[in-house]
Amino acid sequence: MIIAVDGPAASGKGTIARALARHYGLPHLDTGLLYRAVALNLLQAGGDPESEFSAVRACDISQIDFADPELKGETVGGIASRISAYKMVREALLERQRTFAASPGGAVLDGRDIGTVIAPRAEAKLFVTAAPEVRAKRRFAELVGFGLNVHYEDVLADIRARDERDSGRAEAPLKPAHDAHILDTSAMSAEQAVAAAIEVVEQRRA
Ligand code: C5P
Repeated sequence: MIIAVDGPAASGKGTIARALARHYGLPHLDTGLLYRAVALNLLQAGGDPESEFSAVRACDISQIDFADPELKGETVGGIASRISAYKMVREALLERQRTFAASPGGAVLDGRDIGTVIAPRAEAKLFVTAAPEVRAKRRFAELVGFGLNVHYEDVLADIRARDERDSGRAEAPLKPAHDAHILDTSAMSAEQAVAAAIEVVEQRRA
């Protein structure tokens, strides 16, 4: 069974995808990390995010340490959302994601275009969303927890900018697949969101 979990930044899709993977004993791929790895590569090489050519040259991510905390930061996230708009960057990362989705027994992938581009035939598709203010609050709490000195207003502005870029791009824009179940987690705790997601998957399986 392939489970596709898409949605905007800080919607809770990562938490849900990890929980689903544990629940069903499936491997999980956070595809945002691939784009973040390209972004970090580019940053470290002093490349220009405004240049598609420069971004494509950063697509060999074989040397990236996926445990590097810098990958999770807002700087890298912002660059990731810029370079992910390039067709050639998306193509360079496509095969790796499709191969993962084809894991024997199935897989859980989360990202922006899993249900639409990477695994359009996934048995279960979830589009996890929440109000921008709620997502900003969650991200803010997470960053404060990391010991970072951030302002809520800045985090909200970042989230809005990222939404606009991810939804407005020509290549694989952020949008629910026509057969995705929309899960709005605005008023849900993490536990409630996970329980709701499992229920959706169970219904799709039945
Ligand atoms: O999910 P995360 O915030 O880690 O993703 C970072 C950026 O990578 C997103 O803002 C988005 O632009 C891009 N991305 C994408 N397609 C995916 C996953 C992430 O374009 N499947």
